[in-house]
Amino acid sequence: MQLQLRYAATGLVLLAPNALALLRFSCSQLVVERLDPLVNPGVTGSPHLHQIIGGNAFKASMDPSNLDIPSAATCTTCTFAEDFSNYWTAVLYFQARNGTFKRVPQKGNVGFEQSNGGMTIYYTPVISGQGKVTAFKPGFRMIVGDPNNRQSSNVPRQLTYTCLKSPMTRDGETPDFPKQPCPYGIMVNVRFPTCWDGKTLDPPDHASHVTYPSSGTFESNGPCPASHPVKIPQLFYEVIWDTTQFNNKADWPADGSQPFVWSFGDKSGYGNHGDYVFGWKGNALQTAMDTNCNINCPQLKSQSIQQGNQCSVKAVVDETIDGWLDELPGGMPVDK
Ligand SMILES: *[C@@H]1O[C@H](CO)[C@@H](O)[C@H](O)[C@H]1NC(C)=O
Repeated sequence: MQLQLRYAATGLVLLAPNALALLRFSCSQLVVERLDPLVNPGVTGSPHLHQIIGGNAFKASMDPSNLDIPSAATCTTCTFAEDFSNYWTAVLYFQARNGTFKRVPQKGNVGFEQSNGGMTIYYTPVISGQGKVTAFKPGFRMIVGDPNNRQSSNVPRQLTYTCLKSPMTRDGETPDFPKQPCPYGIMVNVRFPTCWDGKTLDPPDHASHVTYPSSGTFESNGPCPASHPVKIPQLFYEVIWDTTQFNNKADWPADGSQPFVWSFGDKSGYGNHGDYVFGWKGNALQTAMDTNCNINCPQLKSQSIQQGNQCSVKAVVDETIDGWLDELPGGMPVDK
């Protein structure tokens, strides 16, 4: 299969296998619930609902000073079996004309169709450049994007939506939700910053220790700023929301606007954000980056998608998230 690598600013670029090294793998759903160990540590019932993938050490409190994630986890939903990291985003809902909400299901990406929802994860070392990247360290966490943002101008170009016209088309990324029905669903793209300050594992805002290149882009191998001189792999999430059951425009708002809303009440899409808790075992991620593994990585332990589907954690927040709901989980208000 030809690898499709998408450059946010330039649209679709096709590359033959081996033109570039990167890890691309599937992680199935671990749990969908209102926990957020980064922003609301220890709180059972964070303000909004998340969909979480990765290792089963995930819980409300994940204090790195007393948690060794790869030791605490006994399984992972990812096909690289040494990856016990956790990755999460908010959850997409459809709002019907009568005001009620229904959770939009997720589906596996091209090549990962058997995955029980979840995401596709990429780790890309420096593109077409010399030099190595420094893999994340135990205790490293980060968040990109801001659920409170509703301004187009504040959205980094790395956070986008793709209206999927077919399983393989990847054109036309936008910072806001697609305005027309998408025949194959909506893909959410979350590309994290690639420059690190080299010291801080997880600052209070979970974001200021990393930044995007100071000029150019990650894709053009742009330099990191002096404040954040260490190049880290580009972590990239693709999340496919299977909106197809909601594509009848007669069910869309009478004013012609689009009907999807994030679990944090955002109808614009500009609040797109992603969260990451590093949890690879030992040196596995650094080894994969140093050996320029491309998709498959014989240096890493793998498991099947079906094995990944077997790993899950039980939701501790007892609430209904499916079926037609009168309000979003947690009573999160929707933007007017
Ligand atoms: C609201 O609309 C949805 C979609 O049309 C429908 O399935 C549901 O039964 C409606 N709920 C009520 C209370 O009318």
